[in-house]
Amino acid sequence: MKKMRDRQRDVRQRPSRGESSAVQRDTGTRGKPAAVQDAPPRRHLVRRPGALPDERLPLILEVAPTADYALLDSGAGGKLEQYGPYRIVRPEGQAIWQRTLPAAEWEKADAIFTGDTDEEGMGRWRFPWQPLGETWPMKHDGIDYLGRFTSFRHVGVFPEQGSHWSHMEGLIRAANRPVKVLNLFGYTGLASLVAARAGAEVTHVDASKKAIGWARENQEMARLSDRPIRWICDDAMKFVEREERRGSRYDIVLFDPPAYGRGPKGEVWQLFEDLPVMADICREILTPRPLAVVLTAYSIRASFFSIHALMRDTFAGMGGRVESGELVIREKSAGRALSTSLFSRWVAE
Ligand SMILES: C[S@@+](CC[C@H](N)C(=O)[O-])C[C@H]1O[C@@H](n2cnc3c(N)ncnc32)[C@H](O)[C@@H]1O
Repeated sequence: MKKMRDRQRDVRQRPSRGESSAVQRDTGTRGKPAAVQDAPPRRHLVRRPGALPDERLPLILEVAPTADYALLDSGAGGKLEQYGPYRIVRPEGQAIWQRTLPAAEWEKADAIFTGDTDEEGMGRWRFPWQPLGETWPMKHDGIDYLGRFTSFRHVGVFPEQGSHWSHMEGLIRAANRPVKVLNLFGYTGLASLVAARAGAEVTHVDASKKAIGWARENQEMARLSDRPIRWICDDAMKFVEREERRGSRYDIVLFDPPAYGRGPKGEVWQLFEDLPVMADICREILTPRPLAVVLTAYSIRASFFSIHALMRDTFAGMGGRVESGELVIREKSAGRALSTSLFSRWVAE
């Protein structure tokens, strides 16, 4: 496959935090469909000098069952979850063990994701008892938002991310000063709402207009409309490149990219190709007193050691610590842990 990301790179060399910049720029391509590729400048990455940050790994961050969300049971390639008022069954390839709860408990489900593509109405969902509306009210740690049955099997929240959100909230509150948060690939905005509630000024970026619309609805639902959140529909890579050129800076950056995605103008995101550049730019757009950069990755053939090494190299010379491991959800029935994603985060302290 051809290299697809057109990289609009500025040729300015800026010193990086604590070390001279290890970034050089040259030419290459990125992201636009072939027809509009014009071989713009590309970032050439060079290993940064300086001591590697301390490390902590493996770190397994767990989400336990709550009244808002619980993984009730899992097994035989499926998972049974409680999302607020609804019990939901979805496929789960990792659940290769046996179910603990009896079939009667699974059969109480309000919604089942079938995976069929040819159903009418609510896409691939089946509602065994009564047809349910597309959305329903949910809560995360006191924040109201909307759950939604999407045709991609998602319901608008990735509960395992809750571990990152509470960590971030703690950092924002403890900083006791204005904090700017950048939430890349922000989806329905839960992280943005948690950050805004904690007092941060938030910039939320996602390529999907629908997701941005849903995130705005969530802001209203959460009664946080008076909080400063910029909702931006853009390609995440293009956005950070622009922020770097403009000199915009952030204290916390979250990025939770898919393995493969597209920007609003067809820009292609491919994790293995683009992640090192994005991590590098994330370092460049930090304030002089940054707090954290949090990366999550899922559905990729890689170990957390891989993103750990990338993050440690990227933050060389910055001090702090890189913590890496997995985000897991603890099941209510037998207490098994369901792994959902890999993460690596740099924290200043
Ligand atoms: C897994 S979701 C992120 C979930 C989020 N961290 C959360 O917990 O709510 C990935 C998001 O990336 C967005 N996306 C995919 N490609 C993108 C791109 N090139 N630029 C910006 N956003 C993109 C999708 O629209 C989707 O909302």
